[in-house]
Amino acid sequence: MLILGIESSCDETSIAIVRDGNEILSNKISSQIAIHKEYGGVVPEIASRQHIKNIAAILQESLEEAKVTLDDIDYIAVTYAPGLIGALLVGVSFAKGLAYGKNIPLVPVHHIRGHIYANFIENEVELPCMALVVSGGHTNIIYIDKNYNFKNLGATLDDAVGESYDKVARVLGIGYPGGPVIDKMYYEGNPNFLKITTPRVEGYNFSFSGIKTSVINYVNKMNMKKENFKPEDLAASFQQKVVNILCDKVLKACDENPVKNIIIAGGVAANSLLRKELKERGEGKGLNVYFPSMKLCTDNGAMIALAAYYKIKNGYKEEIDLSLNGVATLAIDEI
Ligand code: KG4
Ligand code: ZN
Repeated sequence: MLILGIESSCDETSIAIVRDGNEILSNKISSQIAIHKEYGGVVPEIASRQHIKNIAAILQESLEEAKVTLDDIDYIAVTYAPGLIGALLVGVSFAKGLAYGKNIPLVPVHHIRGHIYANFIENEVELPCMALVVSGGHTNIIYIDKNYNFKNLGATLDDAVGESYDKVARVLGIGYPGGPVIDKMYYEGNPNFLKITTPRVEGYNFSFSGIKTSVINYVNKMNMKKENFKPEDLAASFQQKVVNILCDKVLKACDENPVKNIIIAGGVAANSLLRKELKERGEGKGLNVYFPSMKLCTDNGAMIALAAYYKIKNGYKEEIDLSLNGVATLAIDEI
C-alpha cells in the first residue's frame, strides 16, 4: 500500500511516500525557518504563501525520489488540524485537488496523531503504551490501548513545552526556533544556576508558564541593574527543570497505568537531554523507551502517511465529500 502524506500546518512544507507503513520511499521537507527567523517566530501569512510557492515542486521531488507516479498512489493523507489555518488550507486544498483529479481516496490526519505514529515507523512498539507529546503547540500524556484507542490523561494548562522554549529563547536573544539552541547551550551552562520552583499541578497536567517567567524575570532584573549574566546558565537551568518535570509526570503515568512502553512525540522529542534522561530513568524501571529518529521528530509528511496507514488499518472509510457541489469541509476533532 503506497500512501502519499502531505504536511503544511506550520512552517514546513513536506510530502512523503510511505510503503506498507514501514518503508519511507521519500520524505521531502522544505523548511521556512530561515525566512521566519528574522521576525523571531512564524508569520502566518508568509507561511501560507511559502507553502503555495513550494508545494507542487515538493510533490514532484517526492515522486521522483520514490520512483513512483501519482497513478501508483493508493491513498493521499493530509494534515487537517491543528495548525495555522492559512497554512493548513494550502495542504488540504492541494490534497483535495489531487484526490479529486486522480480519484484517490483522501485520509484526513490530526497533526499530533502524526507525531505519535512517527514512533511506529522505525520501532516495533508493543501496545498498550504511554505517549509523551511535546511539540510547539501541545504537551500531553496519552494512553494508547492495544486497539490504538487514545485516552488523554493530561495536558498543559498554559504554554506548550516547545512554546516555552521559543519564548525563553526570544528573551535570551538567541532566535527562532529556540529549542535546538537552548539544547546546545545546556552543555555550556550550569543547570543549578537558577532556582526555579516546580509548579504544583494536579494529576498528569503540566504548567510551563511560571518556569518561563522565572527565566524572563531574572533576565529583566539583570538588565535593569545593568549586570551581566551567562545566558548558557539560564538555558541550562530552564532545560533541566523542564526535562525533570516531563520525565517525572510520564513515569508517574506509567506507574499508575498498565504499560511497559513509552514513546515521545513532537518537535521537543528531538531534545538530547529528554531523550537521554527518559531512556535512563524509564529503563531503570524496566520500561522500553522509544523516540523517532531526529528527522522524524519535527514536522514531516512521512508521519502523516503513517498515521493514515494505521487509520486505514483500523477500518477508516472515506468520509469526505470531494464533489465540487459538496462543501468539502473537514471537522476539527480531538486528538
Ligand atoms: O512538532 P513541531 O515541529 O511543531 C509543532 O507541531 O508545534 O515542534 C516545534 C517545536 C519548537 O517549539 C522547537 O523549539 C521545538 O519543537 N524543538 C526543540 C528541539 N528541537 C525542536 N525543543 C527542545 N529541544 C530541541 N532539540
Ligand atoms: Zn508538529
